[in-house]
Amino acid sequence: MRVALIGSGGREHALAWKLLQSPRVDHLTCLPGNGGIAEIADCVPVKADDISGLLSYIEDQGFDFVIVGPEQPLALGLVDDLMARGIAVFGPTQAAAQLESSKAFTKDFCTRYNIPTAAYGVFTDLKAAKKFLQSMPAPYVLKADGLAAGKGVVIPETLEDAETELEEFFSGKFGDASAKVVIEEFMRGQEVSFFAISDGHSALPMIGAQDHKRAFDGDEGPNTGGMGAYAPPPVFTDALQTRVMNEIINPTVAGMKEDGHPFTGVLFAGLMITEDGPKLIEYNARFGDPECQVLMRALESDLMEILIAAEAHQLDEVNPLKWTSDAIINVVLATKGYPGAYEKGSIITGLSDADKLEGVKVFHAGTGHDDNGDLIATGGRVLNITARGKSIRAARDLAYKAIDEKINWPEGFCRRDIAHHALK
Ligand code: AMP
Ligand code: GLY
Repeated sequence: MRVALIGSGGREHALAWKLLQSPRVDHLTCLPGNGGIAEIADCVPVKADDISGLLSYIEDQGFDFVIVGPEQPLALGLVDDLMARGIAVFGPTQAAAQLESSKAFTKDFCTRYNIPTAAYGVFTDLKAAKKFLQSMPAPYVLKADGLAAGKGVVIPETLEDAETELEEFFSGKFGDASAKVVIEEFMRGQEVSFFAISDGHSALPMIGAQDHKRAFDGDEGPNTGGMGAYAPPPVFTDALQTRVMNEIINPTVAGMKEDGHPFTGVLFAGLMITEDGPKLIEYNARFGDPECQVLMRALESDLMEILIAAEAHQLDEVNPLKWTSDAIINVVLATKGYPGAYEKGSIITGLSDADKLEGVKVFHAGTGHDDNGDLIATGGRVLNITARGKSIRAARDLAYKAIDEKINWPEGFCRRDIAHHALK
C-alpha cells in the first residue's frame, strides 16, 4: 500500500517508524513530516491544517490509505473530504471529532449516556457563569469550549481570580474558542491517558500511559503539550482498564453510533483516577503526544493491519493487541524557553550515538536541517528520547543516560522526573 501520514510531531515520527515495520506498507509519505521522519520516509511540505493543499496532493498522488495524526485537520473535516473522494482514511469525521473539538459537546454527551465525568455547567453569558462559580467550592476549573492548543484550561485557586479569568475568557482570550465556557467540579487523583481504537461499532483497547503536562520537575511551571510519558502506570490496573472499557469507552462508541456520527479512529480518554473510580476529564480524537511514542514502542502487533480493519469497520475480526511486558519511557527534550518564547536554529549532535544504546530510540518533533546539513531545533518540543527496560526505573535510567552521555544540545532542557508517580 502507498500510505500518507499527516502531521509533523514526535507522535508522527513514532507512527511512521511503526508503520514501516508492516509488510502492508510499501511506501510512506508524510505531510509535512520533520527532520527525523525525512530519514525514513518521503516528506512533502504541506502543513497539517492546509486542508485544500492536502486534498489536492493526496488526490493527485493517488494514495491507498491516509492516516491523520493531529487534531486540527480532524476538526476542519479532512476525513469527511477524503471520504467524499472515495479515499480510505483512518480518523474520525468532523462530527465525531467534536468529542475533542467541543468540550460542551462532550460534557452533554456524557450526561446523556451516563459516562462518569466532573459535574459542570456550560455558559455563553458572564452573569450566569459568575453565579454558577459562586455556587462551587475552590479550586475552580474553567475551560474554553473549542480547541486552544492545549492551553484553554485554567484552574484558579480563589473565586476572585476565577471571576477575572472568566471575564478574560468572554472578552476573547482564546478567540472564538472561549465564546462558550465550561465550568467544572475539580477532581482529585492521578491522571491516566487511555487509548482505544474504534471502527464505529466496537472498540479495541490499547494501553494506558501517564503524561507530564507541566514544564518543570515536581509538576511545577506552565502547562505544555507534554514533557514526557511512560507505561505501564502502576495506578492503572487491569481491573481499572476493564472498568474504563465498560463504563466509558464502550458507552461512548455506542452513543456516538446511536447519535448518527459513529467514531472511527483513536479514542484518547484523559482520565482522573478518583476515590470513586475512573472519571473522564476529556476526550481527544487522536493519539496523544508524547504518549503515542511510548505506545508504538510497546505495541507488538502490526499497526497498519489494525488501522485497515478499523477503516473497514471490521475490528471484531482482529486479534487482541499484543504488548511488550517491558516498561517504556519517553523523555521530551525542548528548547529552553518553551512553552514561552524560544530561539530556533541551534545545532543538535549525538543522536545516532544515543540510538545505538541498546533499548533506546530517538523520535524527532521540531527538527530540521540547516544549509550545511546539520540537524537543528525548529520548534518548542524537539526530541523524544524513548527507552525500554525490564522495570520503569531501568527504562528511566537508560533514557537519562542517553541524554546525559550521548546527546549534545546546550540550548535544550528536559524534566528529570519523568515517571515519578511510579517511582515514589
Ligand atoms: P484538559 O485540556 O481538559 O485535559 O485539561 C487540562 C488539564 O487540566 C488536565 O490534564 C488536568 O490536569 C486539569 N483538569 C481538567 N479538568 C479538571 C477537573 N475537572 N478537575 C481537576 N483537574 C482538571
Ligand atoms: N499528551 C496530551 C495530548 O496529546 O493532548
